[in-house]
Amino acid sequence: MDSFGRPSSCTRLFSLTLQEPVLGAIRKTNTQPHVNSSEPVSATISRRDFAKAFLLTAGAFAAAPWESSLKAAEPGIRRIRTGVIGCGSVSNQYLPVLKRCPFIELVSVADIRPERARKQSEAYQVPHHYPSIEAMLAGEPFEFLIDLTDMQAHEAINRRALQAGKHVWSEKPIANSLEAGQQLLRLALRRKLRLWGAPITVQSPQFAFMARKVASGDLGRIAAAHAFYGHEGPDWSSFFYEKGGGSLPDLAVYNLTSLTGLLGPVRRVTALLSIVTPERTIHEKGKIQVTEEDNAMVLLDHGKGVLSHVQSGFNYFNPHGHDGSGEKRHTIQITGSRGYVGLVGYDWAPQGVEWATLDRPQLVRECTEPGGYIWQQGAALAAECLSTGRELLATPEQALHVLEIITAARASSASGRTIPLKSTFRWPLPV
Ligand SMILES: NC(=O)c1ccc[n+]([C@@H]2O[C@H](COP(=O)([O-])OP(=O)(O)OC[C@H]3O[C@@H](n4cnc5c(N)ncnc54)[C@H](O)[C@@H]3O)[C@@H](O)[C@H]2O)c1
Repeated sequence: MDSFGRPSSCTRLFSLTLQEPVLGAIRKTNTQPHVNSSEPVSATISRRDFAKAFLLTAGAFAAAPWESSLKAAEPGIRRIRTGVIGCGSVSNQYLPVLKRCPFIELVSVADIRPERARKQSEAYQVPHHYPSIEAMLAGEPFEFLIDLTDMQAHEAINRRALQAGKHVWSEKPIANSLEAGQQLLRLALRRKLRLWGAPITVQSPQFAFMARKVASGDLGRIAAAHAFYGHEGPDWSSFFYEKGGGSLPDLAVYNLTSLTGLLGPVRRVTALLSIVTPERTIHEKGKIQVTEEDNAMVLLDHGKGVLSHVQSGFNYFNPHGHDGSGEKRHTIQITGSRGYVGLVGYDWAPQGVEWATLDRPQLVRECTEPGGYIWQQGAALAAECLSTGRELLATPEQALHVLEIITAARASSASGRTIPLKSTFRWPLPV
Protein backbone atom coordinates (compact mmCIF):
# COMPACT_ATOMS: atom_id res chain seq x y z
CA MET A 1 0.00 0.00 0.00
CA ASP A 2 1.22 3.51 -0.67
CA SER A 3 1.01 6.52 1.63
CA PHE A 4 -2.54 7.21 0.43
CA GLY A 5 -3.52 3.65 1.29
CA ARG A 6 -3.72 2.66 -2.38
CA PRO A 7 -2.44 -0.61 -3.79
CA SER A 8 1.11 0.00 -4.97
CA SER A 9 0.97 -2.28 -7.99
CA CYS A 10 0.99 -0.63 -11.40
CA THR A 11 -2.50 -1.85 -12.22
CA ARG A 12 -4.80 0.14 -9.92
CA LEU A 13 -4.20 3.54 -8.44
CA PHE A 14 -7.52 5.10 -7.56
CA SER A 15 -10.96 4.10 -6.48
CA LEU A 16 -12.28 6.19 -9.38
CA THR A 17 -10.86 4.02 -12.09
CA LEU A 18 -12.50 3.18 -15.36
CA GLN A 19 -13.05 -0.50 -15.97
CA GLU A 20 -12.21 -2.38 -19.15
CA PRO A 21 -15.45 -1.87 -21.15
CA VAL A 22 -15.09 1.90 -20.75
CA LEU A 23 -11.39 1.97 -21.42
CA GLY A 24 -11.98 -0.36 -24.34
CA ALA A 25 -14.42 2.14 -25.82
CA ILE A 26 -11.88 4.93 -25.40
CA ARG A 27 -9.08 2.85 -26.86
CA LYS A 28 -11.36 1.95 -29.77
CA THR A 29 -11.86 5.61 -30.61
CA ASN A 30 -8.15 6.11 -30.23
CA THR A 31 -7.39 3.47 -32.82
CA GLN A 32 -10.36 3.40 -35.18
CA PRO A 33 -10.82 6.77 -36.79
CA HIS A 34 -13.36 7.29 -39.54
CA VAL A 35 -11.03 6.44 -42.39
CA ASN A 36 -11.23 4.09 -45.31
CA SER A 37 -9.96 0.71 -44.12
CA SER A 38 -7.42 0.69 -46.93
CA GLU A 39 -5.76 3.74 -45.41
CA PRO A 40 -3.13 3.34 -42.71
CA VAL A 41 -4.81 3.26 -39.30
CA SER A 42 -5.26 6.80 -37.96
CA ALA A 43 -3.48 8.30 -40.92
CA THR A 44 -6.02 11.08 -41.28
CA ILE A 45 -7.50 11.63 -37.82
CA SER A 46 -7.19 15.14 -36.47
CA ARG A 47 -7.69 16.33 -32.91
CA ARG A 48 -11.14 17.53 -33.95
CA ASP A 49 -12.05 14.16 -35.53
CA PHE A 50 -10.74 12.45 -32.46
CA ALA A 51 -13.01 14.53 -30.23
CA LYS A 52 -16.00 13.70 -32.45
CA ALA A 53 -15.17 9.99 -32.45
CA PHE A 54 -14.88 10.07 -28.68
CA LEU A 55 -18.25 11.76 -28.41
CA LEU A 56 -19.83 9.00 -30.47
CA THR A 57 -18.79 6.44 -27.87
CA ALA A 58 -20.29 8.38 -24.98
CA GLY A 59 -23.04 5.80 -24.81
CA ALA A 60 -20.50 3.16 -23.89
CA PHE A 61 -20.11 4.86 -20.54
CA ALA A 62 -23.71 4.09 -19.63
CA ALA A 63 -22.73 0.56 -18.71
CA ALA A 64 -19.58 1.52 -16.83
CA PRO A 65 -19.40 -1.02 -14.01
CA TRP A 66 -17.51 1.30 -11.65
CA GLU A 67 -20.50 3.60 -11.64
CA SER A 68 -23.09 1.02 -10.63
CA SER A 69 -20.79 -0.82 -8.22
CA LEU A 70 -19.72 2.39 -6.52
CA LYS A 71 -23.29 3.59 -6.19
CA ALA A 72 -24.38 0.25 -4.83
CA ALA A 73 -21.47 0.03 -2.41
CA GLU A 74 -21.62 3.63 -1.23
CA PRO A 75 -25.23 4.85 -1.19
CA GLY A 76 -24.29 7.86 0.94
CA ILE A 77 -21.80 9.13 -1.60
CA ARG A 78 -21.63 12.95 -1.74
CA ARG A 79 -22.09 14.20 -5.27
CA ILE A 80 -20.41 17.52 -5.95
CA ARG A 81 -22.63 20.06 -7.72
CA THR A 82 -20.52 21.02 -10.71
CA GLY A 83 -20.51 23.64 -13.45
CA VAL A 84 -18.42 23.44 -16.62
CA ILE A 85 -17.35 26.60 -18.43
CA GLY A 86 -16.01 26.34 -21.98
CA CYS A 87 -18.03 24.10 -24.30
CA GLY A 88 -15.52 23.71 -27.12
CA SER A 89 -13.40 20.83 -28.33
CA VAL A 90 -12.10 19.49 -25.03
CA SER A 91 -15.55 19.58 -23.41
CA ASN A 92 -16.35 16.62 -25.68
CA GLN A 93 -13.60 14.75 -23.87
CA TYR A 94 -14.51 15.81 -20.33
CA LEU A 95 -18.31 15.68 -20.34
CA PRO A 96 -18.71 11.93 -21.01
CA VAL A 97 -16.40 11.19 -18.07
CA LEU A 98 -18.05 13.78 -15.79
CA LYS A 99 -21.52 12.60 -16.72
CA ARG A 100 -20.74 9.07 -15.49
CA CYS A 101 -18.63 10.11 -12.50
CA PRO A 102 -20.39 9.02 -9.29
CA PHE A 103 -18.95 12.00 -7.42
CA ILE A 104 -20.38 14.63 -9.76
CA GLU A 105 -23.79 16.15 -10.31
CA LEU A 106 -23.57 18.29 -13.44
CA VAL A 107 -25.80 21.31 -12.87
CA SER A 108 -24.69 23.85 -15.46
CA VAL A 109 -22.57 24.57 -18.50
CA ALA A 110 -21.53 27.97 -19.86
CA ASP A 111 -19.85 29.45 -22.91
CA ILE A 112 -19.58 32.96 -24.34
CA ARG A 113 -20.86 31.31 -27.49
CA PRO A 114 -24.30 30.53 -26.02
CA GLU A 115 -25.25 28.05 -28.76
CA ARG A 116 -22.33 25.86 -27.67
CA ALA A 117 -23.52 25.86 -24.05
CA ARG A 118 -27.05 25.02 -25.16
CA LYS A 119 -25.82 22.20 -27.40
CA GLN A 120 -23.74 20.58 -24.66
CA SER A 121 -26.51 20.97 -22.10
CA GLU A 122 -28.81 19.06 -24.46
CA ALA A 123 -26.23 16.46 -25.43
CA TYR A 124 -25.36 15.67 -21.81
CA GLN A 125 -28.69 16.49 -20.15
CA VAL A 126 -27.20 19.27 -18.03
CA PRO A 127 -30.20 21.22 -16.66
CA HIS A 128 -28.84 24.79 -16.93
CA HIS A 129 -26.80 26.68 -19.50
CA TYR A 130 -25.44 30.23 -19.41
CA PRO A 131 -23.65 32.71 -21.71
CA SER A 132 -21.01 33.90 -19.20
CA ILE A 133 -19.28 33.20 -15.90
CA GLU A 134 -21.31 35.97 -14.24
CA ALA A 135 -24.64 34.53 -15.38
CA MET A 136 -23.49 31.08 -14.29
CA LEU A 137 -22.48 32.30 -10.82
CA ALA A 138 -25.78 34.14 -10.45
CA GLY A 139 -27.78 31.12 -11.64
CA GLU A 140 -28.23 27.58 -10.32
CA PRO A 141 -26.00 27.06 -7.24
CA PHE A 142 -22.95 24.82 -7.57
CA GLU A 143 -19.70 24.32 -5.66
CA PHE A 144 -17.11 23.13 -8.20
CA LEU A 145 -16.16 24.89 -11.44
CA ILE A 146 -14.37 23.11 -14.28
CA ASP A 147 -12.67 25.66 -16.54
CA LEU A 148 -12.24 24.49 -20.14
CA THR A 149 -12.01 27.90 -21.80
CA ASP A 150 -9.20 29.42 -23.92
CA MET A 151 -5.78 29.24 -22.27
CA GLN A 152 -5.60 33.04 -21.88
CA ALA A 153 -9.04 33.21 -20.20
CA HIS A 154 -8.31 30.77 -17.35
CA GLU A 155 -6.73 33.22 -14.91
CA ALA A 156 -9.64 35.67 -14.81
CA ILE A 157 -12.31 32.94 -14.73
CA ASN A 158 -10.50 30.93 -12.03
CA ARG A 159 -10.12 34.09 -9.91
CA ARG A 160 -13.79 34.99 -10.32
CA ALA A 161 -14.88 31.47 -9.36
CA LEU A 162 -12.65 31.37 -6.26
CA GLN A 163 -13.92 34.83 -5.23
CA ALA A 164 -17.44 33.41 -5.52
CA GLY A 165 -16.51 30.51 -3.20
CA LYS A 166 -16.15 27.73 -5.80
CA HIS A 167 -13.53 24.98 -5.92
CA VAL A 168 -11.77 25.05 -9.29
CA TRP A 169 -10.33 22.54 -11.75
CA SER A 170 -8.63 24.39 -14.60
CA GLU A 171 -7.34 23.18 -17.91
CA LYS A 172 -3.75 24.30 -18.37
CA PRO A 173 -2.52 26.81 -17.49
CA ILE A 174 -4.09 27.82 -14.15
CA ALA A 175 -2.98 31.43 -14.75
CA ASN A 176 -0.85 33.47 -17.14
CA SER A 177 2.10 33.91 -14.76
CA LEU A 178 3.55 32.30 -11.65
CA GLU A 179 2.72 35.38 -9.55
CA ALA A 180 -0.92 35.40 -10.65
CA GLY A 181 -1.17 31.64 -10.11
CA GLN A 182 0.28 31.92 -6.60
CA GLN A 183 -2.22 34.68 -5.82
CA LEU A 184 -5.02 32.36 -6.90
CA LEU A 185 -3.65 29.57 -4.72
CA ARG A 186 -3.39 31.92 -1.72
CA LEU A 187 -6.96 33.06 -2.36
CA ALA A 188 -8.10 29.43 -2.47
CA LEU A 189 -6.29 28.58 0.78
CA ARG A 190 -7.71 31.66 2.52
CA ARG A 191 -11.22 30.71 1.47
CA LYS A 192 -10.68 27.00 2.31
CA LEU A 193 -11.22 26.12 -1.34
CA ARG A 194 -9.34 23.74 -3.62
CA LEU A 195 -7.63 24.62 -6.89
CA TRP A 196 -6.18 22.12 -9.35
CA GLY A 197 -4.79 22.30 -12.88
CA ALA A 198 -4.33 19.88 -15.77
CA PRO A 199 -2.47 17.83 -16.83
CA ILE A 200 -2.49 14.71 -14.68
CA THR A 201 0.30 12.66 -16.28
CA VAL A 202 1.66 11.92 -12.78
CA GLN A 203 -1.47 9.89 -12.07
CA SER A 204 -0.71 7.14 -14.57
CA PRO A 205 0.63 3.74 -13.48
CA GLN A 206 3.43 4.15 -16.04
CA PHE A 207 4.53 7.36 -14.31
CA ALA A 208 4.52 5.53 -10.96
CA PHE A 209 6.54 2.66 -12.45
CA MET A 210 9.15 5.05 -13.85
CA ALA A 211 9.32 7.08 -10.62
CA ARG A 212 9.92 3.92 -8.62
CA LYS A 213 12.55 2.76 -11.10
CA VAL A 214 14.39 6.10 -10.83
CA ALA A 215 14.17 6.00 -7.01
CA SER A 216 15.27 2.35 -6.79
CA GLY A 217 18.86 3.11 -7.78
CA ASP A 218 18.74 0.41 -10.49
CA LEU A 219 19.63 3.03 -13.12
CA GLY A 220 22.71 4.22 -11.21
CA ARG A 221 23.33 7.97 -11.01
CA ILE A 222 20.62 9.71 -13.05
CA ALA A 223 22.27 12.01 -15.58
CA ALA A 224 19.94 13.08 -18.38
CA ALA A 225 16.42 12.92 -19.78
CA HIS A 226 14.69 13.85 -22.99
CA ALA A 227 11.00 14.22 -23.78
CA PHE A 228 9.02 15.38 -26.81
CA TYR A 229 5.47 15.99 -27.96
CA GLY A 230 4.19 17.59 -31.14
CA HIS A 231 1.72 17.48 -33.99
CA GLU A 232 0.65 19.75 -36.83
CA GLY A 233 -1.29 22.06 -34.51
CA PRO A 234 -5.02 22.68 -33.87
CA ASP A 235 -7.04 24.38 -36.59
CA TRP A 236 -10.23 25.22 -34.67
CA SER A 237 -9.18 28.13 -32.44
CA SER A 238 -6.67 30.93 -32.85
CA PHE A 239 -5.79 31.27 -29.14
CA PHE A 240 -3.30 28.40 -29.48
CA TYR A 241 -1.13 30.72 -31.63
CA GLU A 242 -1.70 34.04 -29.84
CA LYS A 243 0.14 35.64 -26.91
CA GLY A 244 -0.14 33.39 -23.87
CA GLY A 245 -0.71 30.38 -26.14
CA GLY A 246 1.97 28.42 -27.97
CA SER A 247 3.17 24.84 -27.91
CA LEU A 248 4.71 25.23 -24.43
CA PRO A 249 1.46 25.57 -22.42
CA ASP A 250 -0.51 23.36 -24.82
CA LEU A 251 1.94 20.48 -25.44
CA ALA A 252 5.24 20.71 -23.54
CA VAL A 253 3.22 21.11 -20.35
CA TYR A 254 2.63 17.32 -20.33
CA ASN A 255 6.35 16.45 -20.57
CA LEU A 256 7.29 19.20 -18.10
CA THR A 257 4.83 17.78 -15.59
CA SER A 258 6.17 14.25 -16.10
CA LEU A 259 9.86 15.19 -15.98
CA THR A 260 9.57 17.44 -12.91
CA GLY A 261 7.54 14.64 -11.31
CA LEU A 262 10.25 12.09 -12.13
CA LEU A 263 13.42 14.13 -11.61
CA GLY A 264 12.33 16.86 -9.21
CA PRO A 265 11.76 20.63 -9.32
CA VAL A 266 13.84 22.67 -11.75
CA ARG A 267 16.40 25.28 -10.63
CA ARG A 268 17.11 27.06 -13.92
CA VAL A 269 15.92 27.08 -17.51
CA THR A 270 17.52 27.82 -20.87
CA ALA A 271 15.42 27.81 -24.03
CA LEU A 272 15.22 28.60 -27.70
CA LEU A 273 11.76 29.27 -29.16
CA SER A 274 10.76 30.08 -32.71
CA ILE A 275 7.83 30.52 -35.07
CA VAL A 276 8.06 28.11 -37.99
CA THR A 277 4.66 28.87 -39.59
CA PRO A 278 3.89 32.62 -39.29
CA GLU A 279 0.40 32.36 -40.83
CA ARG A 280 -2.26 29.72 -40.24
CA THR A 281 -5.82 29.06 -41.35
CA ILE A 282 -8.35 28.66 -38.56
CA HIS A 283 -11.95 27.41 -38.96
CA GLU A 284 -14.54 30.19 -39.05
CA LYS A 285 -11.75 32.80 -38.88
CA GLY A 286 -9.61 32.33 -41.96
CA LYS A 287 -5.99 33.42 -41.99
CA ILE A 288 -4.37 34.50 -38.71
CA GLN A 289 -0.87 35.68 -37.76
CA VAL A 290 1.03 33.39 -35.37
CA THR A 291 2.43 35.57 -32.56
CA GLU A 292 3.45 32.97 -29.98
CA GLU A 293 6.09 30.24 -30.46
CA ASP A 294 5.16 27.09 -32.37
CA ASN A 295 8.55 25.43 -31.88
CA ALA A 296 10.31 25.05 -28.51
CA MET A 297 13.54 23.56 -27.15
CA VAL A 298 13.87 23.81 -23.37
CA LEU A 299 16.83 22.76 -21.18
CA LEU A 300 16.15 22.11 -17.49
CA ASP A 301 18.55 21.85 -14.56
CA HIS A 302 17.02 19.68 -11.82
CA GLY A 303 20.03 20.07 -9.51
CA LYS A 304 22.56 17.43 -8.37
CA GLY A 305 23.88 17.35 -11.93
CA VAL A 306 20.61 16.07 -13.47
CA LEU A 307 19.77 17.79 -16.78
CA SER A 308 16.77 17.25 -19.02
CA HIS A 309 15.45 18.52 -22.33
CA VAL A 310 11.89 18.99 -23.59
CA GLN A 311 10.90 19.76 -27.16
CA SER A 312 7.43 20.61 -28.41
CA GLY A 313 5.91 22.12 -31.50
CA PHE A 314 2.94 22.65 -33.81
CA ASN A 315 4.94 21.69 -36.91
CA TYR A 316 5.68 18.07 -36.13
CA PHE A 317 4.96 15.49 -38.78
CA ASN A 318 2.79 13.00 -36.94
CA PRO A 319 1.20 10.14 -38.87
CA HIS A 320 -1.06 9.32 -35.89
CA GLY A 321 -2.70 12.73 -35.48
CA HIS A 322 -4.28 12.76 -32.04
CA ASP A 323 -4.30 8.98 -31.86
CA GLY A 324 -2.22 8.34 -28.74
CA SER A 325 -2.22 4.58 -29.26
CA GLY A 326 -0.40 5.02 -32.59
CA GLU A 327 2.72 6.46 -30.97
CA LYS A 328 5.16 3.65 -30.16
CA ARG A 329 8.38 5.62 -29.65
CA HIS A 330 9.87 6.39 -26.25
CA THR A 331 8.62 9.95 -25.79
CA ILE A 332 10.31 10.18 -22.39
CA GLN A 333 13.83 8.78 -22.02
CA ILE A 334 15.82 8.77 -18.78
CA THR A 335 19.46 7.72 -18.71
CA GLY A 336 21.61 6.89 -15.70
CA SER A 337 25.14 5.53 -15.22
CA ARG A 338 23.86 1.93 -15.00
CA GLY A 339 20.54 1.91 -16.81
CA TYR A 340 17.83 3.44 -18.98
CA VAL A 341 14.05 3.74 -18.75
CA GLY A 342 11.76 4.85 -21.58
CA LEU A 343 8.03 5.56 -21.74
CA VAL A 344 6.28 3.86 -24.66
CA GLY A 345 3.82 6.31 -26.23
CA TYR A 346 2.82 9.71 -24.90
CA ASP A 347 2.69 10.46 -21.18
CA TRP A 348 -0.98 11.49 -21.56
CA ALA A 349 -1.78 8.06 -23.12
CA PRO A 350 1.06 5.79 -21.99
CA GLN A 351 1.31 2.23 -23.27
CA GLY A 352 4.10 0.76 -21.22
CA VAL A 353 7.60 1.26 -19.90
CA GLU A 354 10.80 -0.25 -21.27
CA TRP A 355 13.98 -0.42 -19.24
CA ALA A 356 17.42 -1.97 -19.26
CA THR A 357 20.41 -2.02 -16.89
CA LEU A 358 24.05 -3.09 -17.01
CA ASP A 359 23.05 -6.36 -15.34
CA ARG A 360 20.17 -6.91 -17.77
CA PRO A 361 21.00 -4.96 -20.95
CA GLN A 362 18.08 -6.22 -23.07
CA LEU A 363 15.11 -3.79 -23.05
CA VAL A 364 12.13 -5.29 -21.21
CA ARG A 365 8.61 -3.90 -21.58
CA GLU A 366 6.44 -3.74 -18.44
CA CYS A 367 3.41 -1.92 -17.06
CA THR A 368 1.39 -2.11 -20.27
CA GLU A 369 -2.11 -1.80 -18.71
CA PRO A 370 -3.87 1.60 -18.35
CA GLY A 371 -4.81 0.69 -14.76
CA GLY A 372 -7.86 2.92 -14.92
CA TYR A 373 -5.94 5.99 -16.07
CA ILE A 374 -7.18 8.27 -18.84
CA TRP A 375 -6.01 11.85 -19.32
CA GLN A 376 -9.62 13.11 -19.40
CA GLN A 377 -10.34 12.10 -15.77
CA GLY A 378 -8.51 14.90 -13.88
CA ALA A 379 -11.60 16.90 -12.93
CA ALA A 380 -13.43 13.70 -11.98
CA LEU A 381 -10.54 12.77 -9.66
CA ALA A 382 -10.72 16.27 -8.17
CA ALA A 383 -14.45 15.76 -7.50
CA GLU A 384 -13.61 12.43 -5.87
CA CYS A 385 -11.18 14.31 -3.65
CA LEU A 386 -13.84 16.88 -2.70
CA SER A 387 -16.30 14.11 -1.96
CA THR A 388 -14.09 11.60 -0.13
CA GLY A 389 -10.89 13.41 0.82
CA ARG A 390 -8.78 11.10 -1.35
CA GLU A 391 -5.93 13.30 -2.55
CA LEU A 392 -4.49 13.51 -6.08
CA LEU A 393 -0.80 13.17 -6.89
CA ALA A 394 -1.26 16.18 -9.20
CA THR A 395 -0.95 19.37 -7.12
CA PRO A 396 -1.41 23.08 -7.89
CA GLU A 397 2.11 23.72 -6.57
CA GLN A 398 3.58 21.47 -9.28
CA ALA A 399 1.28 22.97 -11.93
CA LEU A 400 2.51 26.45 -10.96
CA HIS A 401 6.13 25.30 -11.03
CA VAL A 402 5.57 24.05 -14.58
CA LEU A 403 3.96 27.40 -15.42
CA GLU A 404 7.08 29.17 -14.13
CA ILE A 405 9.25 26.92 -16.34
CA ILE A 406 7.14 27.97 -19.35
CA THR A 407 7.39 31.69 -18.61
CA ALA A 408 11.13 31.30 -17.85
CA ALA A 409 11.61 29.55 -21.21
CA ARG A 410 10.02 32.55 -22.94
CA ALA A 411 12.23 34.96 -20.97
CA SER A 412 15.33 32.88 -21.72
CA SER A 413 14.66 32.75 -25.44
CA ALA A 414 13.97 36.49 -25.58
CA SER A 415 17.05 37.49 -23.58
CA GLY A 416 19.54 34.74 -24.43
CA ARG A 417 20.03 34.17 -20.68
CA THR A 418 19.57 31.24 -18.33
CA ILE A 419 16.67 32.02 -15.97
CA PRO A 420 16.73 30.91 -12.30
CA LEU A 421 13.40 29.70 -10.89
CA LYS A 422 11.75 30.66 -7.61
CA SER A 423 9.00 28.11 -7.15
CA THR A 424 9.12 24.49 -6.07
CA PHE A 425 6.81 21.68 -4.96
CA ARG A 426 6.93 18.70 -2.62
CA TRP A 427 9.02 15.99 -4.22
CA PRO A 428 9.32 13.04 -4.59
CA LEU A 429 5.68 12.34 -5.22
CA PRO A 430 4.17 9.59 -3.03
CA VAL A 431 3.58 7.16 -5.91
N1 LIG B 1 -9.04 20.19 -27.56
C1 LIG B 1 -8.30 19.28 -26.96
O1 LIG B 1 -8.15 18.13 -27.41
C2 LIG B 1 -7.60 19.59 -25.65
C3 LIG B 1 -6.94 18.57 -24.98
C4 LIG B 1 -6.36 18.83 -23.74
C5 LIG B 1 -6.44 20.11 -23.22
N2 LIG B 1 -7.06 21.12 -23.91
C6 LIG B 1 -7.12 22.46 -23.30
O2 LIG B 1 -8.49 22.79 -23.09
C7 LIG B 1 -8.67 24.21 -23.18
C8 LIG B 1 -9.74 24.51 -24.23
O3 LIG B 1 -9.29 24.01 -25.46
P1 LIG B 1 -10.32 23.64 -26.64
O4 LIG B 1 -9.54 22.90 -27.64
O5 LIG B 1 -11.54 23.03 -26.05
O6 LIG B 1 -10.64 25.10 -27.19
P2 LIG B 1 -11.99 25.55 -27.93
O7 LIG B 1 -11.69 26.84 -28.59
O8 LIG B 1 -12.52 24.45 -28.75
O9 LIG B 1 -12.99 25.79 -26.71
C9 LIG B 1 -12.86 26.85 -25.79
C10 LIG B 1 -14.25 27.34 -25.47
O10 LIG B 1 -14.17 28.30 -24.43
C11 LIG B 1 -15.10 29.35 -24.72
N3 LIG B 1 -14.69 30.54 -24.00
C12 LIG B 1 -13.59 31.31 -24.22
N4 LIG B 1 -13.54 32.33 -23.34
C13 LIG B 1 -14.62 32.20 -22.55
C14 LIG B 1 -15.13 32.94 -21.45
N5 LIG B 1 -14.51 34.04 -21.00
N6 LIG B 1 -16.28 32.53 -20.85
C15 LIG B 1 -16.92 31.42 -21.31
N7 LIG B 1 -16.49 30.68 -22.35
C16 LIG B 1 -15.35 31.05 -22.95
C17 LIG B 1 -15.03 29.50 -26.22
O11 LIG B 1 -16.16 30.16 -26.74
C18 LIG B 1 -14.92 28.04 -26.67
O12 LIG B 1 -16.18 27.48 -26.92
C19 LIG B 1 -7.30 24.79 -23.50
O13 LIG B 1 -6.67 25.14 -22.29
C20 LIG B 1 -6.56 23.62 -24.13
O14 LIG B 1 -5.17 23.72 -23.97
C21 LIG B 1 -7.65 20.89 -25.11
